[in-house]
Amino acid sequence: MGSLQFLLICAVVQSILFLSLAIPSPDSAYPSPYGDGSGTCVGVSDPKLQHITREVYDNGCIFDITHKFTPHTPVGISNEGIGKFLTLLFSMKNGSLYNYSELRLPAHAGTHVDAPGHMYENYFEEGYDVDTLDLKVLNGPALLVDVPRDQNITAKVMKSLNIPKGVKRVLFRTLNTDRGLMYNKAFDTSYVGFMKDGAQWLVDNTDVKLVGTDYLSVAAFDDLIPAHLVFLKSREIILVEGLKLDDVKAGIYSVHCLPLRLVGAEGSPIRCILIK
Ligand SMILES: *[C@@H]1O[C@H](CO)[C@@H](O)[C@H](O)[C@H]1NC(C)=O
Ligand SMILES: *[C@@H]1O[C@H](CO)[C@@H](O)[C@H](O)[C@H]1NC(C)=O
Ligand SMILES: *[C@@H]1O[C@H](CO)[C@@H](O)[C@H](O)[C@H]1NC(C)=O
Repeated sequence: MGSLQFLLICAVVQSILFLSLAIPSPDSAYPSPYGDGSGTCVGVSDPKLQHITREVYDNGCIFDITHKFTPHTPVGISNEGIGKFLTLLFSMKNGSLYNYSELRLPAHAGTHVDAPGHMYENYFEEGYDVDTLDLKVLNGPALLVDVPRDQNITAKVMKSLNIPKGVKRVLFRTLNTDRGLMYNKAFDTSYVGFMKDGAQWLVDNTDVKLVGTDYLSVAAFDDLIPAHLVFLKSREIILVEGLKLDDVKAGIYSVHCLPLRLVGAEGSPIRCILIK
């Protein structure tokens, strides 16, 4: 109870801080099927009346934008999903005094983050692992935008989004969310992502340092390596992939993403939430 109240108060303080920032909203090039985020977000109310689910908390002020891990969680290198990822090493059914499981997960499955060492051998050798990722980039004001549904994210699409200068974190919702691709265990190469020129446009013309998308790779399959290389080259841009952006309105939020401190890993599961 104490921690719930604390969360509620935090959220209210956050949203007050946020509103006072008054970041301009971009003209959306694509009308969001999920609304424009202009609805009211009520802060503290009677806790007894609060319907708290595991996806949305605090009357819709906190959204969990992380996918659950299940054996069907997709991963880029398989059509079968991640499979059995939990193993009970000690089981109460077998007479142990406790249940105790071991985790075994691909570093790039489900909602996850890429470190510079993912696609640059020299960065990997130099230790640019997920533990070097800047928490200041992974946490702060963020824009959730809808991109046109009929194409991949090219330079032309990026230009049309009119992302204001100064915006450092953008979550791109695409056709992948409408298609529910993250809920299918088979890896689907027809997902929408950045083409190389779209990635280059973002690097050259915006201040965006956190790029989030709604499937396993920010880069479209046809430009898988080139678009990643463009993003990761400066080691300043952090890529968060496989976000759960269903049922969240487009607009301005505070994003909070925390990777695990996996020393030597070029990817990590990441927990991300949005606070309105
Ligand atoms: C421990 O694991 C068993 C499966 O071996 C499960 O049936 C049981 O509910 C678990 N107990 C607890 C306390 O989690
Ligand atoms: C419990 O013990 C049996 C017999 O040793 C073994 O076959 C089974 O896998 C064990 N189950 C768990 C959950 O540890
Ligand atoms: C995006 O690119 C992929 C190949 O990387 C392609 O299969 C897919 O049809 C494209 N999506 C759209 C909406 O154009």
